Amino acid sequence: MQQIIELEKVTKRFGGITALNQASLSVEKGEVVGLIGDNGAGKSTLIKTLVGVHSPDDGIIKIRGEKVSNWNALKARESGIETVFQDRALCPQQSIVWNIFMGKELKYPFGFVREKEQIKEANRLIREIGFTSKLINAESPVGNLSGGERQGVAIARAIYNNAELIILDEPTNNLSLNETQKVFDFVLNVKKSNRSVLFIGHNIYHVYDISDRFVILDRGEVVHQLDKKDIATPEELMKIMRDTIKKH
Ligand SMILES: Nc1ncnc2c1ncn2[C@@H]1O[C@H](COP(=O)(O)OP(=O)(O)O)[C@@H](O)[C@H]1O
Ligand SMILES: [Mg+2]
Repeated sequence: MQQIIELEKVTKRFGGITALNQASLSVEKGEVVGLIGDNGAGKSTLIKTLVGVHSPDDGIIKIRGEKVSNWNALKARESGIETVFQDRALCPQQSIVWNIFMGKELKYPFGFVREKEQIKEANRLIREIGFTSKLINAESPVGNLSGGERQGVAIARAIYNNAELIILDEPTNNLSLNETQKVFDFVLNVKKSNRSVLFIGHNIYHVYDISDRFVILDRGEVVHQLDKKDIATPEELMKIMRDTIKKH
């Protein structure tokens, strides 16, 4: 299997705090990896380092097997790595199509936006990732959508931007069961298209359902990695996580 991204012994310090301590992690093509750990474990620092928001103090980052240098947010996006942040990134007064194409509109040579094409493409994208409601189409305002559906728009935008790895930081926080299921359906469609997902969460049940593999982070260190096939239930994962952290 091909690795999209690989972190090797990455360390990140903030003043006296070591937020990441020689953390290693990789994500393969078509894989959903669940990154779990308590608050303050370093999950957000790990993904911010991975997407070039923070530069590591030590360690190696590889993209598709190639070591990168001067890694930054622009390079990460150009390499097909997109982060979906909760809500923040969408403009609710605007339509789905506007939000998907924001800043990257399809244009005619003389500058006018190819609106019909954008609408067609946006409709195709939202169906592809799993929007089923007949009441929703590319021209619906994002403000009318539920929390889970908004995540879907953000994922559609990432796919339009040629994302091969989509990072979701606690995407199901504050979502109802029904809405959480929608986000899971979107993630499964992303996986079906052979893209990868890094799913961050502290709700073990959510992470368990959606992931193929789990990476447990504790006080900045990757303390355990395990495959879903080796765990029978989310309770077992929870127990393994607690025991690992206790011993660490
Ligand atoms: N920008 C920052 N400046 C200083 N300390 C930070 C910064 N970001 C995170 N930290 C610290 O690094 C540790 C890991 O935080 P974080 O990555 O946010 O954990 P998580 O996402 O797992 O809750 C915490 O101790 C946190 O206080
Ligand atoms: Mg966090």
